[in-house]
Amino acid sequence: MSCTTIEVSDLRFTYPGSHHHVLDGLSASIAEGERVALLGPNGSGKTTFVLHLNGLLTLQFGSIRIGDLEMGEENLPEIRRRVGAVFQDADDQLFMQSVREDVAFGPANLGVPRAELDAVVERALGQVGAEALIDRTPHHLSGGEKRRVAIATVLAMDPHALVLDEPTSGLDPVGRRELAELLAGLPQTQLVVTHDLPFALQTCPRSMIVSGGRVVADGSTREILSNAELLAANRLELPYGFDVSSL
Ligand SMILES: Nc1ncnc2c1ncn2[C@@H]1O[C@H](COP(=O)(O)OP(=O)(O)O)[C@@H](O)[C@H]1O
Ligand SMILES: [Mg+2]
Repeated sequence: MSCTTIEVSDLRFTYPGSHHHVLDGLSASIAEGERVALLGPNGSGKTTFVLHLNGLLTLQFGSIRIGDLEMGEENLPEIRRRVGAVFQDADDQLFMQSVREDVAFGPANLGVPRAELDAVVERALGQVGAEALIDRTPHHLSGGEKRRVAIATVLAMDPHALVLDEPTSGLDPVGRRELAELLAGLPQTQLVVTHDLPFALQTCPRSMIVSGGRVVADGSTREILSNAELLAANRLELPYGFDVSSL
């Protein structure tokens, strides 16, 4: 198990058929094992950015390095293995009849022999505390259980980094706390897109605010969340009565 640096420089991107620069010179540098929250208003380009990190959207301008690998066609399979993406909607990630098959899918595609697959699946489910779900049907699970299994599907590929898009959406308070504890216990470099500012404070020492397709603030999560003007300018709001110094 290892972690990786993520280096992004001057990323620019427009969706086909549009002239709008959704990413407009986005640069970021993330160290090995760092946990960084990605904050920002709706439509600011956060999802578009994280979809670039494992090659789900093709680079138009700028560069991305995952450890020693430059994003490009020849490195795509290895970059996809190194960067595990956990989508906002777990139903986009879980599509087999059983949790076992869903978690086995990635490593089987990578060529892990059948005889070793069970052990890989059990290890990944163990990492997220979901061993007991192995024979369940994914679409019958609760939101929190689905999120755990979705994380297990990427952990089964032994990734160096995890990018999670709105991982607390649809979770109840207990599920949210359990997810924070789970992420804190994983060694991978983590980039967490979230609107949930207390969750960002709990899980990520560092935060970046993305607005208009670029990084407009980057610093300690505590400092960023203490800056009321900066938050207001970016449509970010702490829950009523939340005290940043309480954590
Ligand atoms: N598939 C797409 N085709 C065209 N425009 C898109 C597509 N996906 C997102 N957009 C547009 O790109 C902008 C950024 O979207 P997104 O990256 O999803 O922002 P965020 O995740 O920060 O809310 C928005 O204006 C959105 O409407
Ligand atoms: Mg989004």
